[in-house]
Amino acid sequence: MDPISNCRQTIATEPTTAVYPGTFDPITNGHLDIVERALQLFDRVIIAVAVNVGKQPLFPLDERIDLIKQCFGPGDDRVSVDATDGLIVDYAEQQGACAIVRGLRAVSDFDYEFQLALMNRKLARRVDTVFLMTGFRWIYISSSIIKDAARHHGDISGLVPDHVRQALQKKYHADNKKSGRRPGV
Ligand code: COA
Repeated sequence: MDPISNCRQTIATEPTTAVYPGTFDPITNGHLDIVERALQLFDRVIIAVAVNVGKQPLFPLDERIDLIKQCFGPGDDRVSVDATDGLIVDYAEQQGACAIVRGLRAVSDFDYEFQLALMNRKLARRVDTVFLMTGFRWIYISSSIIKDAARHHGDISGLVPDHVRQALQKKYHADNKKSGRRPGV
């Protein structure tokens, strides 16, 4: 079946699922904005926390997942959080998802996102990439910039959920005092 008929059939007969992949080190209000927007289009959104992305995350995988789960109440059964290691299109297919959601903040995101989407399409034609524009308020934030501000005692309230702000404070300032070690960004 060609991708368009497949999508039409999926939309007509089954609940639609999208996978929202990323490192989420840590999750920010910008990411949550994308999840909210995706929920307007899809019945279910799986936030897929990537294990191997060639980054050295500040938060280990289980903490990143836990911080995301705390953003959603028990009633939010349209959102689930999972870890994924491997090709994101394989994961999407395993989950029966018809789309991969990616957020676009600025033109600078576009080159990389376009390349990633084309590669993903080459790997799995049945899974489409859907780009959602991040709300204007979040256009300048990234996990790294938030971590940098937190590390230097900058005020990040309003940019991440409060439990994430506290986790960053603990990571950079409480843990730091105990060990004398300086965690990386
Ligand atoms: N609000 C705030 N920040 C946002 C954002 C938003 N809406 N959207 C993206 N960002 C930030 C992230 O916080 C992240 O910041 P950081 O670089 O400072 O950590 C940055 O933009 C890039 O984010 P992310 O969307 O998490 O992408 P990533 O590069 O970390 O992850 C994967 C990319 C995991 C999706 C991709 O590598 C992947 O799919 N890997 C699996 C293997 C695979 O299938 N590869 C593709 C085919 S070969």
